[in-house]
Amino acid sequence: MKICVIGMGYIGFPTACLLASAGHHVVGVDVNVSVLDTLRNGQLHIVNEAGLADLYDSVFINGHLVVSDRPSEADAFILAVPTPFLHDPVAAENRQGESAAQGYRADLRYVENATRSIAPFLRPGNLVILESTVPPGTTENVVVRALQEEGVDVSSLLFAHAPERVLPGNLLHELVHNDRIVGGLTQEAGEAAASLYKSFVQGHISITDARTAELVKLMENTYRDVNIALANEFAKVCEYLHIDVWEAMSLANRHPRVNFLRPGPGVGGHCIPIDPYFVIEVAPAVTDLIQAARRVNRGMPHHVLQLLLRLAGGEPLRRVAILGASYKANVGDERESPSLEIAQLLREAGMTVAIHDPYVPPYNTSLETVLEGADAILLLTDHEAYQAIDPHFVRTLVARALLLDTRGLFNPSEWESAGFVVLRLGDGRKSALLESRIIQ
Ligand SMILES: NC(=O)c1ccc[n+]([C@@H]2O[C@H](COP(=O)([O-])OP(=O)(O)OC[C@H]3O[C@@H](n4cnc5c(N)ncnc54)[C@H](O)[C@@H]3O)[C@@H](O)[C@H]2O)c1
Repeated sequence: MKICVIGMGYIGFPTACLLASAGHHVVGVDVNVSVLDTLRNGQLHIVNEAGLADLYDSVFINGHLVVSDRPSEADAFILAVPTPFLHDPVAAENRQGESAAQGYRADLRYVENATRSIAPFLRPGNLVILESTVPPGTTENVVVRALQEEGVDVSSLLFAHAPERVLPGNLLHELVHNDRIVGGLTQEAGEAAASLYKSFVQGHISITDARTAELVKLMENTYRDVNIALANEFAKVCEYLHIDVWEAMSLANRHPRVNFLRPGPGVGGHCIPIDPYFVIEVAPAVTDLIQAARRVNRGMPHHVLQLLLRLAGGEPLRRVAILGASYKANVGDERESPSLEIAQLLREAGMTVAIHDPYVPPYNTSLETVLEGADAILLLTDHEAYQAIDPHFVRTLVARALLLDTRGLFNPSEWESAGFVVLRLGDGRKSALLESRIIQ
């Protein structure tokens, strides 16, 4: 088949490469000139993805994947453009869905523009697949409607939604091996899309309708958001009841049907903190739990600030060393990272903040420099590399030996033996001890 993939990002580019290596003739379209220049030179704009460079080499050399700044005629079109969110709490007050979603709503302008860009090239029988993560109803209400507005006879086209559930860092493996959901606006469209993905997917492909597929993707990330919110709420319950959440949770997880995710300073990345809003936006009246989970997770940075002040015991904190800028361990992704919000809260509270992260420029500087003279250390990301830190050496660098660990990464007794006062998020036993120390 001839396939036009719109959007050469984390999703569109490796998908285009896999389709090309399965023998299809693929045109990869992007509006970003520097992405196109890089790819035209045979180079990659996406790094640290095993096998991707070799795969692109082969389809670049055999000409099965070419890139362009505009679409062209094809049998199938795949839209893989960004779907960020808009945040406008003021405008939201007048609109029920947005107000419930605390002013967040999906920004579908990229999807709409990409859809309109393919309109002149569509021919009867063509398949149009939306891969971007979207609120339920978007394939029909945005993609089909935009094409109708462009004067396209949509009755002769096949439409489907095929969401992505891949993990950056392991893109190629997951694109091939993950199970896929394909939702057609019609049964024929679902089957046509499934047969296209079968050319490179080894996981199971389930066919459903487009709305279900759109919701399933959001359900997956909402499930994780709600689970983390529950863990965070129990962290606060444990602080209140003077219990250690890390011990309690590991014991609860020994139940064969219980699986708590870990508490932490908040939720980040471009999926989990955003996708639940796409559900709230379209179903504001029936999403109490999802809305509450968002509030709990969005409140964690403020909670971390309160813990830090409690650890300081009323003494001023002039300089705080933050360990970890990315939103999760061992990656350099700082999108929506709670670390950056916490750093801002600390600055607003009058503290000087020094941030270290081995994976995120410009914070991948010397750890010693970041720790030097700190009144407190705040661990926000559980990078494995931090486990090798020697607390005795750190003690020689800092001004005050205070450690707040929001990820349960460090062994408290090791740090205590080096002279640190240690508090972990959710460790109510320790916060009770601290309070008695402060009162004395
Ligand atoms: N990255 C992930 O891990 C992941 C996982 C699951 C789902 N998704 C979803 O997949 C979609 C794409 O995400 P991504 O990470 O690939 O985004 P990305 O930002 O990496 O890439 C998107 C590309 O689309 C291009 N683009 C924007 N408008 C265009 C247009 N009109 N025509 C042509 N190109 C255009 C941009 O220049 C960019 O290169 C999003 O909806 C995202 O939520 C991403």
